[in-house]
Amino acid sequence: MAILDILKVPDPRLKQVSEPVSRFDDELRRFAADLEETMRAGPGGVGIAAPQVGRFQRIVIVDVSSRPNTPNHGLMVLVNPEITAWEGLKVGREGCLSVPDYTGNVIRATRIELTARDLDGNPVEYECVDFEARAVQHEIDHLDGLLFLDRLVSKRNDLFRRKRYK
Ligand code: NI
Repeated sequence: MAILDILKVPDPRLKQVSEPVSRFDDELRRFAADLEETMRAGPGGVGIAAPQVGRFQRIVIVDVSSRPNTPNHGLMVLVNPEITAWEGLKVGREGCLSVPDYTGNVIRATRIELTARDLDGNPVEYECVDFEARAVQHEIDHLDGLLFLDRLVSKRNDLFRRKRYK
């Protein structure tokens, strides 16, 4: 396994729209293992998307199980994810491995339903709430070339410089 280099703002590749995965093979599974290792090596790494390491395919990983009192599914590797239902809206603070110096307040749905493929190409479905739902929405945004910076209601009021990364 390997820790991959993370693209950081203002790298224009972070705005690229990623392509669906069509080949579910050992190479994909090896890449997903590297992507997970890269997420876990990062500060506060609760999610990562393939384009953040320069692979423009629709693959995200989310694992919020390390956060206390947070409903979760443990490790989720989502290939070609699609959000199929949304409910509720809430403002919450987000960070991103590609935006190391800032956090920001972003409005997200509080409950989502999604479909995706697993690494073998089998269809999977999840219902996510609260912080896990937020993390999934954040990571899927990366697949469409969007960062949390693009979703701030107010750049002046909702963007915060990090005192220290955690
Ligand atoms: Ni991010």
